[in-house]
Amino acid sequence: MKHINIALDGPSGSGKSTVAKELSKKLNILYLDTGAMYRAAACKAISLGVDTLDEEKVSSFIGDIDLDIRYIDGTQHTFLDGKDVSARIREPEVSMAASNISSLKCVRMKMVSMQREIAKSMSCILDGRDIGSFVLPDAKYKFYITAAPEVRTARRKAELESRGFQVDFHELLKEIEQRDYNDKHRDFAPLVQAKDAILIDTSDMSVHEVLEKILSYIDR
Ligand code: DC
Repeated sequence: MKHINIALDGPSGSGKSTVAKELSKKLNILYLDTGAMYRAAACKAISLGVDTLDEEKVSSFIGDIDLDIRYIDGTQHTFLDGKDVSARIREPEVSMAASNISSLKCVRMKMVSMQREIAKSMSCILDGRDIGSFVLPDAKYKFYITAAPEVRTARRKAELESRGFQVDFHELLKEIEQRDYNDKHRDFAPLVQAKDAILIDTSDMSVHEVLEKILSYIDR
């Protein structure tokens, strides 16, 4: 197969990561979860006691952040300062912190350059917010995956509960709407559907149906 990049963008809980994982297995190409990188940057700020919106303080450490993405048995692991933080970055307190820190240009430039390097070196599916619109504007395939906020909240709640976190639906809905707002309204590389991206609303679709739909475009 020749070198291809697939951009999967959309708001949180839209089902991107589940679909991206399946797709990467089917096509036998790498899956890069770019949200994990912003989450790791947020963890670093939290561990240093730095406000995730304080551009001056964040810029003092982001350039030299010891962040590494490794694949163990085909699964992405995120390493920060040499430590596997794959579970830590999924904790609820990190979600909003990641949304905040991702609004800073210095953070985005650092993460985007790492993402471009990886995408250049091999075929991969990248899921994120700005992959089709900013990171890889020339990606061969671009999809924008969304779903109603209530559907996304229910999915996120089920996922958090499966990992032992109890959350209130309405609190979580508010948080998801706040994150959507942040991600769509930041000045630099906001969440947006790229002009040439195919829109898929997964509210009433199963993972299998979404996968089939995406594959129908790739097979063409
Ligand atoms: O996909 P996620 O929920 O793990 O992403 C966490 C945060 O990172 C999200 O609120 C927005 C940000 N993000 C981003 O700004 N750009 C990306 N390409 C991926 C994630």
